[in-house]
Amino acid sequence: MTALLSFVADHAGPRQSEDDEDEANVIILGAGFDARAHRLGLAATHKVRFVEVDAAGTQAKKLQKLRSVPEKINDRVTYLGCDFTTESWPDVLQAGGIRVDLPSMIVWEGVTYYVPPRVISETLEAVAKFQAPAMICFDYPSAQALAVMKDYTASLKEPWLSLGEKRVRGRGLAVRG
Ligand SMILES: C[S@@+](CC[C@H](N)C(=O)[O-])C[C@H]1O[C@@H](n2cnc3c(N)ncnc32)[C@H](O)[C@@H]1O
Repeated sequence: MTALLSFVADHAGPRQSEDDEDEANVIILGAGFDARAHRLGLAATHKVRFVEVDAAGTQAKKLQKLRSVPEKINDRVTYLGCDFTTESWPDVLQAGGIRVDLPSMIVWEGVTYYVPPRVISETLEAVAKFQAPAMICFDYPSAQALAVMKDYTASLKEPWLSLGEKRVRGRGLAVRG
């Protein structure tokens, strides 16, 4: 959260009017029911666009819920459907008209658990290739958590596919800097 607030303060100036052009993106991959695009109100005060990229089914359920909320919801959120295992999320952003040439913060929380190692590599590679300043915040299971949760999550039919901390670091961070 601190990183998100700092990123917006550093890259998106104060919004003076509704017509101001966005200066930065916060891209939430696998947003699920995360409501911070609405809760924080940052797009109203700063020239920042929130983009939620998620499995189409999850996103449809979220949008249905949001429509039933009486408070005004932030309309500076773009929702894009994507299956990270079969589609390229940067291509989905481009096709959705997102200004990927703007500084972008990518939030990827609670997702690496569910995607195969290849997707982790591709995602980190994609962030490294952004032309404008880009950062990614993500989490991954520890070896202990993986050992405890693997069978349980498989029994729920939501298996943790991640290889855990050591391999994520090896595949992504060490290799891509
Ligand atoms: C545990 S939820 C995390 C939600 C949110 N980021 C949070 O931290 O509360 C996992 C999210 O990853 C998404 N997800 C998992 N596998 C995916 C895939 N292959 N393609 C797109 N989204 C995926 C799910 O739709 C869901 O929104």
